[in-house]
Amino acid sequence: MIGSLMMCVSVVVLLVGMLAGIAMGIQQNFTLAPAHAHLNLIGGVLLFLFGLYYRLIPAAGTTMLAKVQGWLHISGAILFPAGVALVLLKGPSAEAAPILGSLIVVAAMTLFGVIVFRTSQA
Ligand code: HEM
Repeated sequence: MIGSLMMCVSVVVLLVGMLAGIAMGIQQNFTLAPAHAHLNLIGGVLLFLFGLYYRLIPAAGTTMLAKVQGWLHISGAILFPAGVALVLLKGPSAEAAPILGSLIVVAAMTLFGVIVFRTSQA
């Protein structure tokens, strides 16, 4: 089920994000802090919460819409922080990546809103 996959991906993302946080602390270089924050929050916290909703409410989690939403969120949650990191390291020439990533995340969030409104009584 997509919910279980989302929770597993979230846990891996959080481990990577936390290790990156420790690396920032050791190096005392906080350039990538915004990428770390968005990876942990969008790719870790939100992904886990959405996956949990799908596990709690199978009527939502077993639909094709949930599958599309889950894969959209997973790809956006990786592309967006990676794009933020690229812009921070390489400058505005890399802006297409975070722009596309953020639009994917907003599309996934919109789909999640539709799913919640459809199934909140289930
Ligand atoms: C082992 C775990 C973690 C470590 C070692 C860590 C480390 C750091 C460090 C070194 C900074 C930069 C601080 C600065 O700019 O002075 C930071 C910023 C931040 N972290 Fe973490 N972090 C961890 C986990 C998390 C998690 C789980 C989240 C969210 C769910 C998170 C969200 C943030 C946010 C929102 C910022 C501020 C970003 C900014 O100012 O642009 N962190 N973290």
